[in-house]
Amino acid sequence: MQPFELAISGVRGLTPYQPGKPISELERELGFRNIVKLASNENPLGPSPRALEAARRALSSLHLYPDGNGFELKAALAGKLGVDSGQITLGNGSNDVLEIVARTFLSPATKAVYSEYAFAIYPLVVQAIGATAAVAPAHDGVRGPRYGHDLDAIAELVDETTRVVFIANPNNPTGTYLTRTELHGFLAGLPNHVIAVVDEAYFEYVEAADYPNALDWLAEFPNLVVTRTFSKAYGLAGLRVGYAVSNERIADLLNRVRQPFNVNIPALEAAKAALDDTDHLAHSIRVNAEGLARLSRALAERKLAVIPSVGNFVSFDLGRPVAPVYEALLREGVIVRPIANYGLPHHLRVTVGTSEENSFFLTALDRVLEP
Ligand SMILES: Cc1ncc(COP(=O)(O)O)c(C=O)c1O
Repeated sequence: MQPFELAISGVRGLTPYQPGKPISELERELGFRNIVKLASNENPLGPSPRALEAARRALSSLHLYPDGNGFELKAALAGKLGVDSGQITLGNGSNDVLEIVARTFLSPATKAVYSEYAFAIYPLVVQAIGATAAVAPAHDGVRGPRYGHDLDAIAELVDETTRVVFIANPNNPTGTYLTRTELHGFLAGLPNHVIAVVDEAYFEYVEAADYPNALDWLAEFPNLVVTRTFSKAYGLAGLRVGYAVSNERIADLLNRVRQPFNVNIPALEAAKAALDDTDHLAHSIRVNAEGLARLSRALAERKLAVIPSVGNFVSFDLGRPVAPVYEALLREGVIVRPIANYGLPHHLRVTVGTSEENSFFLTALDRVLEP
């Protein structure tokens, strides 16, 4: 038998995650260095200097295993979030936590539900286990924000075999969000054999007044798991630190499945220091808010339909297959993200950069779209 036939059927059907094109790859292809990457929703300001310093200090301990329990980072997070350390599960990025949830609660006999256009890791982790994925159609724009999660449609797919529902709030790549009332009502209606994962990877960026903090509901909903990350507003995507907050019984289960040393020493130290640098976080949020407003406006002025976003990225409709525009932008030295793999073949997603990077992108886009 060939290895392909030996793999479980879920794995055979998997399409690998397509990351944004790395800068180094485009440098090799183009032979020049002035490249702007706005493809992976990273923080254009970089990490907090305090986080960098902490990571550097940690390098002399690289011969040691990390604290497998992440005691200090969990204590710092617990203090900041107003929860107990026992409610936290650390991950190698929040992707790791999402996979741990899937491995803890799903099996080939059970089902997970998520929305059309939802974050790409959900199908991956569900299929890899051989569980069934039920995909709810997104809003068509009549009852809710076009492309956004339709919670009624998601609820309709929940049945006796459903064990996990993934909700991204806000969602990537659409940037759409669910309000406090909408999400609370949905969670209240879920049966108690379903774990609700509310993925808040972009939580820190969201400024909408009716955007909820799902941590507020942990006491009310014992099956709620909230995931967050240091990859976005905290600017530490390269170190891979994320976490889940849930009730202690769920955290205990997740921590049984977790690899014991899944967060490395520089990452633990940098994340702890980043939490303390509230100035860097506030600055990152401010720069993003300005850039998001500017990009959204500028794209709309160019008659490109923008999906209103509350994250650090915005997706827009070119009204035709995007490959030629994406390729032409690469030749201009700008990396954005085609999102055909999400079922949006006419959309490009651009991450909010610094003011200079946003200008560079808009100038390149104008050149590329010139009639
Ligand atoms: C909605 C959403 N959730 C989770 C993640 C995972 O990020 P990380 O694994 O870096 O924490 C991302 C990354 O793009 C995301 O967009």
